[in-house]
Amino acid sequence: MREMFNLKSAISLIFAFGIGPLFCGCDEGKIYPSEILGAEDGITVILSGNITGAEGYSGTGYSLVLAVFEEGSDFAEVSKAVEAGDSKVEINNVKVEEGRAELCVINSLRKRVLTLASIDIPKSPAENGGVVSFEVGDVNVAPFEAISSRIFSTACIQCHGGTSHSAAGLNLSREQAYSMLVNVPSAVEEGMFRVRPEEITESTLWEAVATDASAHWSFNHSNLLTAEESGFISNWIEKGAEK
Ligand code: HEC
Repeated sequence: MREMFNLKSAISLIFAFGIGPLFCGCDEGKIYPSEILGAEDGITVILSGNITGAEGYSGTGYSLVLAVFEEGSDFAEVSKAVEAGDSKVEINNVKVEEGRAELCVINSLRKRVLTLASIDIPKSPAENGGVVSFEVGDVNVAPFEAISSRIFSTACIQCHGGTSHSAAGLNLSREQAYSMLVNVPSAVEEGMFRVRPEEITESTLWEAVATDASAHWSFNHSNLLTAEESGFISNWIEKGAEK
């Protein structure tokens, strides 16, 4: 009994004066970048370019945005919607110590899904009057265009390329992907389509990227993509698989 009591009081002493305050201090102790930099150091990020296809995001649950991310974070610190017809979007009073500005797609949790263009925020933006100009040129941001240029071209093209051999006869190069997928019968699963607009369960593309159905295929596609990427592709099919 006596030993138990001593142990207990020793633990509570350690907690109170030793480790305890470390835990309890978490809420107050975190130093936010804005406190380090001070309000007057906020910078302005100006995105400009010839952006087409932004209307493709309405009603999808995803947003096309100009966003700023802290280094190492997948969640937008600040963001502003890029609407159809916008050629210039500005975010003011941005306070990050180190990070990137991106033209990107985020989900409803503000998590990055796809990056369409990005620029590092320089360590001393004050040298340019606190303005970071982010020129993206001509960019088609439509959902399918984003999928083919950001996902297919990096994660799929090595097997589904336009060279002599495309796995399952499916060429996912930028020029061919749409016509090779949408309403084309599957070469792998009888009675299915590669993409059946609005019907994910009839689409082998959905099976490949969002389920483990391909474990029975000659190549297992599970885990090729992030959950955000596969969710975005599924959403594109569900919303009608538009070009
Ligand atoms: C390492 C090679 C490889 C990679 C990488 C790969 N695939 Fe495949 N894919 C295959 C093979 C092989 C098949 C045919 C499977 C079978 O016949 O059993 C296939 C089949 C498919 C099918 C079914 C086609 C049909 O006719 O129904 C789809 C859809 C597909 N892949 C999409 C993708 C996507 C999207 C990616 C990238 C995220 C990808 N694949 C990456 C090898 C690959």
